[in-house]
This record gives sequence, structure tokens and C-alpha cells, in this order.
Amino acid sequence: AQLAQCPSAWDGPEATLPAAITACTRCPLHQRATQAVLGEGPLDADLMIVGEQPGDQEDLAGRPFVGPAGQLFDRLAAAVALNRSKAYVTNAVKHFKFQPKGRRRIHQRPNTAEIDHCKWWLEAELAQVKPRLVVAMGATAAQALTGKGTEIMARRGRIETGLSGLPILITLHPSYVLRHPDADGRIAAEALLQQDLQAAAAYLG
Ligand code: URA
Repeated sequence: AQLAQCPSAWDGPEATLPAAITACTRCPLHQRATQAVLGEGPLDADLMIVGEQPGDQEDLAGRPFVGPAGQLFDRLAAAVALNRSKAYVTNAVKHFKFQPKGRRRIHQRPNTAEIDHCKWWLEAELAQVKPRLVVAMGATAAQALTGKGTEIMARRGRIETGLSGLPILITLHPSYVLRHPDADGRIAAEALLQQDLQAAAAYLG
């Protein structure tokens, strides 16, 4: 399937944003996914958390960060008194990209064209929520928010100015922590993610 040729920004009324995302066919990912997973949280949140894309469980539940990565995020956020229910939580890409393998669905990273097409929605969410701080978890979120998705380990813990002009705190993705091949590396990566979430909480005061 071809990527749709569309104007560069979504300009519909804010109230219709969820329905517009739900109906999105701008890239082929909607064809296999169960549903678009919308961002959730207060529309006047000071903090926006951005992940990569819904995982297997999120695709089925229709909610962001409810599977293993979300559970790790929730645990680390709670440890630094960062209240998830006060944050707007969303993903750079709204549909789950996967490869079927038997009965399993294997996560695949979204490519640049998919990230670019979905950026429309992320930009509309940023314009609606106008957060004081955005946390970009992992390379896909960093790419969508800053235009650069590389060197995450070197950039993490720092605040950059995003394409939208908003401050973007770069950090590791919880799935990167979970998939770490060795226990020591996993513990170290988890500590860095927690440290960055603590920095986000401190920034907001
Ligand atoms: N990983 C993400 O990036 N987002 C989710 O919602 C779940 C897992």
C-alpha cells in the first residue's frame, strides 16, 4: 500500500482529534493493527510522555503503556513520585507494527515514513495539550519530537528544544530496559530511566 499524500499538518477541530486518529489510513499500519491507540490523560497536563508505538497488549486493550513496558514505567514513575494519571501519555506512532509468527505477533520498529506520517497526530496532541515538558522515551519518540533518533544514550537525561519549540527530555525506552540481554546492563539501564523520570518530576516542581 502507498503512503497517502496529504497536507503537512492536521487542521481539524480539536474535539474531533480522537475520531480522526481512530479513522487514520495515512500509512499501511492500520491494516493489520486491531485499532489506533489514542493518547490518554488530562488535556491540560503539564507533562506529556511519548513512547514508540502500542505493543501487543496495548493494541488489544486500546490503551497506551498497559503491557510489560507500561508496568515498568509505572513502577519507576511511582518510585520518583511522578504521577502518571496527571500526565498525558501517548505514542509517536498510533498503530501496532508487527510481523505475525505462528500465533505470536513480533514487534517491528516503525520506519521513518511511518513516523513522519504519524507525526501529524503527535503535533496535534502537542498543540492541544501544550505541556510544559515532554519526555521522549527511546529513539522513535526522539526522532518524531526532535528530528533525530540517534545517540539516545549520549543524549538521555538532557533537555533539548523540540521541533514544536517545547522542551523535550530524552530518555531510554522501558522496552530497551526489559530487552537488555544481561542482568547488570538491565539494572543500569533501569537506573538511568528512573533518574531521567526523577529529573522530569523535578523540572515540573
Ligand atoms: N511501548 C510503547 O512505546 N508504547 C506503548 O504504549 C507500549 C509499549
